[in-house]
Amino acid sequence: MIYLDNAATSHPKPEAVYRRVDDVLRHASANPGRAGHQMAVEADRAIFEARESVARLFNIKHPDRIIFTPNATAALNLAIKGLLKPGEHCVTTAMEHNSVTRPLKFLAQLGAEVDKVQPSPKGVTDPFSIKAAIKTNTTLVAVTHASNVIGTITPIGEIIEAAHARNVPVLLDAAQTAGSVNIDVEGLGLDLLACPGHKCLYGPQGTGFLYIAPSVRLKPILYGGTGSRSDMDTMPDFLPDRYEAGTLNTPGIAGLGAGCEFIVSEGIARIRSHEVALCKRLMEGLAGVPGMKLYGVDDPWARASVVSFNIIGNVEGMDPASVGDRLDSEFGIAVRVGIHCAPDAHKTMGSYPTGAVRMSPGYFNTAEDIDKAVEAVAEIARGAR
Ligand SMILES: Cc1ncc(COP(=O)(O)O)c(C=O)c1O
Repeated sequence: MIYLDNAATSHPKPEAVYRRVDDVLRHASANPGRAGHQMAVEADRAIFEARESVARLFNIKHPDRIIFTPNATAALNLAIKGLLKPGEHCVTTAMEHNSVTRPLKFLAQLGAEVDKVQPSPKGVTDPFSIKAAIKTNTTLVAVTHASNVIGTITPIGEIIEAAHARNVPVLLDAAQTAGSVNIDVEGLGLDLLACPGHKCLYGPQGTGFLYIAPSVRLKPILYGGTGSRSDMDTMPDFLPDRYEAGTLNTPGIAGLGAGCEFIVSEGIARIRSHEVALCKRLMEGLAGVPGMKLYGVDDPWARASVVSFNIIGNVEGMDPASVGDRLDSEFGIAVRVGIHCAPDAHKTMGSYPTGAVRMSPGYFNTAEDIDKAVEAVAEIARGAR
């Protein structure tokens, strides 16, 4: 099988990740932070080391400000619901995944205000439009680092500068970039960073995290046991415990830590170069297919490893879903089709409501995989005309 669905979840994982999950599951899967026996201490150590590994990769000075979550959605919910109150205003974009759009909609129903800045049809967000949308009651700017549909990378440095000039914190949804595009948290002065562990960080599913800068205080959205200050009926005041109620996914988090270590040892620049080369090859190959409509910017360095397209002038049965089915069943190529949980992005690029076919190469794909994928799409397109 040729796996080109890394934007949903990466596959395969580095060998070190499989080994680490297996090792922790066998030897250290007691409840971390809940007991003093040796295996619980080992579990605690596994979590501690993973936090350190995440901090190293993202240049985070305070590892205890990294909150482990089950996925990016939980991290984004904690950031958004923990921060935004009724009467307060959030600036976001029409490139967001539903994991940003839906919690914001929920809060809007409770009296918060939300403004969606409109990027260009190629998914480019103008930092000036964010700046212009900030009002006196704005308490959050929430943007994706790269669209999961069109791939375009957001100019986050300029957005942070504009928001900080008005004392507004920035939440970055790095679901499509964390692990393959360098993110220097301290250098950027980032306030909130939400990441999945199971995409480009190579951790197992069921992992993710939220980084919370010292200047930001969030209301917890989950209440329960932490193994600390168990005498109190309120959540502890210190991090990470304040936001990590319930038993953690120790084997998964340890695997996420091993994924981060893998990225550091390979070098993120090398991972990025490989993925950019694959995307360039894919875009050039697909551009040569008759009837092809490619979405997004031409420069592969200006996008995450995501290439979406449609074969236009389709005859019946050549909608994106059918293309995806045929790629899977006839060519053994795994892609993602449809709306990709981001309807506003599809509206922006003109592919709503049909959606598009998305190919997302990962570090373990090869040029040969890309050539086979292009040839398969070309064959399907030939049949469609
Ligand atoms: C841009 C973006 N944000 C958030 C998410 C949600 O990630 P998770 O599935 O880890 O909750 C995704 C998942 O595809 C995404 O692409």
